[in-house]
Amino acid sequence: MSPRLVRADADAVGRRESPLTITVDGEPLDGVAGQTVAGVLLASGRRSWRTGPSGSPRGVFCGIGVCFDCLVTVNEERDVRACRRRAQDGDAVTTQSRAEAGER
Ligand code: FES
Repeated sequence: MSPRLVRADADAVGRRESPLTITVDGEPLDGVAGQTVAGVLLASGRRSWRTGPSGSPRGVFCGIGVCFDCLVTVNEERDVRACRRRAQDGDAVTTQSRAEAGER
């Protein structure tokens, strides 16, 4: 288990753990209800899932929806901020890069 995922029995606020599974580029990742898509990705050990125009890796930078570094496609909706979107069981997440969108 990742050190970033607090077990429900160790959570100081007493949340209940409801498991969910999303897929990221077809790979199933487990999370818990209430986590953002970025939270599930980080808990799985991923630190980046996108590339910038220069090819540099991007992931969570601000974590509050301001920088847009964490963009992913969720259920075919492009440019979703992973740090702002709550993961839902069955979400199909695909990574994206600025180069594939034709942006400069
Ligand atoms: S990490 Fe900055 S918008 Fe998501």
